[in-house]
Amino acid sequence: MSKLPIPMSSPDLTADDIAAVNAVLHTPVLSIGPQIKAFEQAAAEAVGAKFGVGVNSGTAGLHLGVIAADVQPGELVITTPFSFISSANSILYERGVPVFVDVDPQTGNIDPALVAEAAHDLMQDAGSEMQNRWLPRSINNQKSALRNLKALLPVHAFGQPCDMDPILEVARTHQLSVIEDACEAIGAEYKGRKAGTLGDMGVFAFYPNKQMTTGEGGMIVTNDEAWANLFRSLRNQGRDVFDAWLNHSRLGYNYRLDELSAALGLSQLKRLDELLAKRAQVAAWYTERLKDEELIEVLHLAASTTRMSWFVYVVRIKPPAQRDEVLRRLQIAGVPSRPYFTPIHLQPFYRDKFGYQRGDFPVTEYLGDVSLALPFSSVMTEEQVNYVCQQCRAAVRG
Ligand SMILES: Cc1ncc(COP(=O)(O)O)c(C=O)c1O
Repeated sequence: MSKLPIPMSSPDLTADDIAAVNAVLHTPVLSIGPQIKAFEQAAAEAVGAKFGVGVNSGTAGLHLGVIAADVQPGELVITTPFSFISSANSILYERGVPVFVDVDPQTGNIDPALVAEAAHDLMQDAGSEMQNRWLPRSINNQKSALRNLKALLPVHAFGQPCDMDPILEVARTHQLSVIEDACEAIGAEYKGRKAGTLGDMGVFAFYPNKQMTTGEGGMIVTNDEAWANLFRSLRNQGRDVFDAWLNHSRLGYNYRLDELSAALGLSQLKRLDELLAKRAQVAAWYTERLKDEELIEVLHLAASTTRMSWFVYVVRIKPPAQRDEVLRRLQIAGVPSRPYFTPIHLQPFYRDKFGYQRGDFPVTEYLGDVSLALPFSSVMTEEQVNYVCQQCRAAVRG
């Protein structure tokens, strides 16, 4: 019998992590100090980027990316509807328009062929008032809408990198910025290259369910020094690096990462390989036990994924089994699980604002209907995985 309850996720903290945070508490510097600098350097080094800029969430990092890409009100950014809501929200913060394209049915990542098609069509129609099939209904009905395509915002869903080469090719062809949402994918590799370093900038997130945590927090990585300086300014109320105290060059934000979080991040980052290996082991236990169950489909790993960074373990529930019924049965058995993701375009706020409807992105909607995230963390035991799998098998069979 398993040790119940099994949590949905759990941070993996050691005595060293706790000591690192404690040590900061014995200093007078709890923000803007040596920890963030060290964490930024170590994070940039870990992924092979020139610069790291710590921020207080992944969402904040994405927002700053959209600003750096100079997305003006009404301008367009191609992104995926199969993601956590903040990847699209970060575009809305600048009054930009997310242009969704559907995803690859195998991986759930944005479909590069659709990115190419949409970018081509939108560039051709730039400045015109013609209807364009890629635009959300509400924008298509606005005669005066700006239709400038500015950026691509791919998301590495579940810790698996998108097929980036064709996406980067689209960006080169049309001179678009690429903001990589690598919030779920620290340490992942695409054809041997690190997720987060393939576009103009990438963002990692460190919420407690992530591969490594800072409590709340995020890290932007980039090879562009001007962008790194801009991010440092924007996260700190618009102060430029050379600005005197209380001199603000631009509209900025308080997106700073405090020293306690940075110290925890630095300590966790030292164990990143170990944390990823432990998660890979838990994922392997799951896959081994579920792969031959006909009513459950495990995640397909693309050949271009040379290193998966397991963030969540998501399965697809196949008919006649019903995802929501399986979720309910698991709950009764003491096993938490979550639908993941709920498509962004079907969120009430997006339906109201842009006129999205069911049927607009069929692959995303199918995945939204059948996907179920199971309990997952690096501290899960084989016994717990056994229990969850046993309950999953029972739940799909009714
Ligand atoms: C794909 C994706 N993008 C963005 C975020 C936002 O990160 P945060 O919660 O740190 O703001 C998350 C976090 O779960 C995410 O999964």
